[in-house]
Amino acid sequence: MRIGVLTSGGDCPGLNAVIRSVVHRAVADHGDEVIGFHDGWKGLLEGDHRPLDLDAVSGILARGGTILGSTRVRPADLRDGVERARGHVAALGLDAVVPIGGEGTLKAARLLSDAGLPVVGVPKTIDNDIAATDVTFGFDTAVGVATEALDRLKTTAESHQRVLIVEVMGRHTGWIALHSGMAAGAHAIVVPERPFHIEELATLVGKRFEAGKKFAIVVVAEGAKPQEDTMRLEPGGTDAYGHERFSGVARQLSVELERRLGKEARPVILGHVQRGGTPTAYDRVLATRFGWHAVEAVHRRAFGMMTALRGTDIHLVPLADAVASLKTVPGGRYAEAGCVV
Ligand code: F6P
Repeated sequence: MRIGVLTSGGDCPGLNAVIRSVVHRAVADHGDEVIGFHDGWKGLLEGDHRPLDLDAVSGILARGGTILGSTRVRPADLRDGVERARGHVAALGLDAVVPIGGEGTLKAARLLSDAGLPVVGVPKTIDNDIAATDVTFGFDTAVGVATEALDRLKTTAESHQRVLIVEVMGRHTGWIALHSGMAAGAHAIVVPERPFHIEELATLVGKRFEAGKKFAIVVVAEGAKPQEDTMRLEPGGTDAYGHERFSGVARQLSVELERRLGKEARPVILGHVQRGGTPTAYDRVLATRFGWHAVEAVHRRAFGMMTALRGTDIHLVPLADAVASLKTVPGGRYAEAGCVV
């Protein structure tokens, strides 16, 4: 068989582990040929690709980023490009395309699959917000990076008796905020699923100072919003792909908390450091398993499907399910954390 692979959307630790796994399983075990499209869907639309043999993926298991490159693509461009994509798939003699990506990529994968192209998706995102899989690779790495940062920030917050408001990634969901906040023992966690009330947040942090503590750490997901008519967040507008641009919730919260508490506050934005660098062992294993199962799905001609972790097993789920809803933090998890406002 001939298989085309691409990585699209925001990068994520573990992408290279999937690419390597696809090549190993396909080339070494099945005798297939694999090609890699450059820069995500753009590569498929423009027919920009290179062969991927065993040498090409040697040494990439632990490497962050993606050796194929990644870009975002506007949904309209992809809709307009379906016939071009079909043409390249036919001209290259491909039996299947394996796109590795998050919500946007999987929606695009479904679009191409509905148009009759042979597609098997692999989910990725550090945000862990794809409902059809228990976990996405990249999440464990991001939580590890954020937790280490929080541990470090605690010591400097204590030295200076400050409130540090630490902004982590999480566009629609608070998984990274919740897990890193719990792991590091944060004193307040703010997630997009639960619009916050600034007075309640100030009260929670203030109680800590009343109890004689000298510092506090607040973790906030970048997509967190205040309850209506409570605090004005500056609008950030949208980017070229129609995604909301964030205006810096940590920076704005630090001003509000400093004023209300009379304590020095500082914002810290962790940003893309959470997406860079080597994946954890957990993410390498999950990514490798997804790659292996994607090749098996191709050989079974299970097109229109996506790999997913359910419990400890890898299953195939329809791409339609994968993009139907986001996996948000369930309310029950707030109570366990003890400090979600
Ligand atoms: O979707 C993954 C993600 O890391 C989000 O958490 C974040 O909002 C976004 O990507 C950032 O995207 P970009 O790299 O385009 O700024």
